[in-house]
Amino acid sequence: MTVKDWENYGKFTIISQMSERSRNLPRRSCLSVPGSSQRFLEKAPTINADMSFLDLEDSVAPLEKPAARGQIVRAIRELEWDDRVLCVRVNAWDTRWTYADVIEVVGNAGERLDEIMLPKVQSASDVIAMDLLLTQVEINAGLPRGHIGIEAQIESTKGLINVEEICAASPRLETIVFGPADFAASMEMPILTGGVQISDYPGDHFHYVFSKILMAGRANGLQVIDGPFLKIRDLDALRDYCHRTVTLGYDGKWALHPDQVTLINELYSPSQEQFDKAMDILDAYKAATEVDLMGAVMFGDEMIDEASRKMASKFVFRGERAGMTRTSK
Ligand code: GLV
Ligand code: MG
Repeated sequence: MTVKDWENYGKFTIISQMSERSRNLPRRSCLSVPGSSQRFLEKAPTINADMSFLDLEDSVAPLEKPAARGQIVRAIRELEWDDRVLCVRVNAWDTRWTYADVIEVVGNAGERLDEIMLPKVQSASDVIAMDLLLTQVEINAGLPRGHIGIEAQIESTKGLINVEEICAASPRLETIVFGPADFAASMEMPILTGGVQISDYPGDHFHYVFSKILMAGRANGLQVIDGPFLKIRDLDALRDYCHRTVTLGYDGKWALHPDQVTLINELYSPSQEQFDKAMDILDAYKAATEVDLMGAVMFGDEMIDEASRKMASKFVFRGERAGMTRTSK
């Protein structure tokens, strides 16, 4: 080796765009799969979720965690996962398991693994530490540099206070995710079921939280995801609850059961009517600006302009990402 080779040996340069494959894939439904259950791991690829995350954290008992790592690696390598986003949730930095979760899983899973989900993120340094560890593991595992993305969960008061710096902490970040159950515990809210409406509260007790996370995520180009709804048999209540984050503009929500996946995929896609109207607005605006040279025109009984084009393109992007096509006239 030359002197220059020695100087650079083991060093790496910062690259700005990471984890290209999964960054813009849809994540309407994000299915949680306990990594210690062979049965659930084998079933996961057959469930029509946009994303599956194989869990090493709270759905796995402490004594099962070391064995679950190997089961997850085998599931990633041996099962047929189609094009969906494939993620592993590791344990949080305040446990004894995080570094070995990453070294064992990312070090052995191969290129099909898209992302690591980091729970209970408290500050930007939690994300930076994960980014640095991933860089070393990628090099030693022969993975492309920057291959593994990060999903960061906000589920504590400290995490929410720091969410703006957290969302800007690493180019590996692809999403920011709300964890309502741990968050309620961190707030000391007097509730016993995670992620559901509190009937005694006059309004939406998480409205501020949803909005704050959404703004921080969008300001940094991230997808923004709502967490679990734990009453898994009550689909009507889930439908009602989802309207909160669908209306604010969240990209998707966790699912804990296949029945939740079907409903969540439907709710976090634009309706056909919205999609067709957005396409019509884009056509009308293009004709107005490029043929008639006008910046604002009437579209039915409403005025449209450049801001209308921006709103319509978001619907079209979301719809196309979910595989929708325009109704033929
Ligand atoms: C998810 O991890 C939650 O705590 O709600
Ligand atoms: Mg949690």
